[in-house]
Amino acid sequence: MRTAIEYHSDKAADFAEWHEVLERRDYFASSFAYGRWRIREALRALLPLPVPGLHFVDIGCGTGHELALFLAQGYEVTGVEPAEGMRAEALRLHPELAGRVLEGSGEALPLADEAADVVLSIEVVRYIVDLARFAREVGRVLRSGGAWFFTATPPTNWCLHPLLSILRSRGVPLPHVQRLRMFWHSAGLLRRVLSETGFEMETVLPVNYIDFPCLALYRALPRAGALWAKMLHPAWSWMERHRLLGWAAGYYVVKAVKRG
Ligand SMILES: C[S@@+](CC[C@H](N)C(=O)[O-])C[C@H]1O[C@@H](n2cnc3c(N)ncnc32)[C@H](O)[C@@H]1O
Repeated sequence: MRTAIEYHSDKAADFAEWHEVLERRDYFASSFAYGRWRIREALRALLPLPVPGLHFVDIGCGTGHELALFLAQGYEVTGVEPAEGMRAEALRLHPELAGRVLEGSGEALPLADEAADVVLSIEVVRYIVDLARFAREVGRVLRSGGAWFFTATPPTNWCLHPLLSILRSRGVPLPHVQRLRMFWHSAGLLRRVLSETGFEMETVLPVNYIDFPCLALYRALPRAGALWAKMLHPAWSWMERHRLLGWAAGYYVVKAVKRG
């Protein structure tokens, strides 16, 4: 099975295209655009204001879209990305990021101790074999009281992604599911790992995305997929806000604060 880094290196051009749809604010046009829109909305409510000089680090920054947005808002930014194809695409799309995208991984960050005020990892934790090691490394580069924002996928995710991914790894032909090693995290598991690695889990926001069964519809009939998603959006947002349904979310958006 290929590693997540190899897979994403080859997928960089696709990510650039998917982000372009998101930048057009065509949120119902694809599963990717819808999910990232929901993540961005959740982050908007949680992120600190961009005080000049505040150092923002994006681990697994991919094609650099979030980095470019945060740079434009006045943060100091650094991206860390292990996939060469992703780093190349980030610099091609955003030349202003030159010198700000570093080669490295979440488990070995090329940054000094306490160099960051805010750390972000969107859709990265799900590929990480040893989350505690990753969290300790984030804790090393983050100043005390600094915050780490990341997404994770609960095993009880209503899109059945964990189940589909197991089936895919056993050879079931599900072309829309990545054939990669992935890891799922309940809120309880995240709280325990974060607490053991020097963080306080402050907030967990359930956020939805479009996957099974809508993804198949998107592929066959994109306009019908978009219409279907638009119709279901009120139900999904209701589910995001429902106190008892968080466990079934597509993603969690987590804010963890480094203990002083
Ligand atoms: C689904 S992509 C998300 C990219 C970007 N954050 C975004 O939102 O578009 C996952 C990213 O995590 C990166 N990645 C995989 N393993 C990693 C690791 N051990 N440390 C840091 N990043 C990693 C991949 O190379 C890829 O760019």
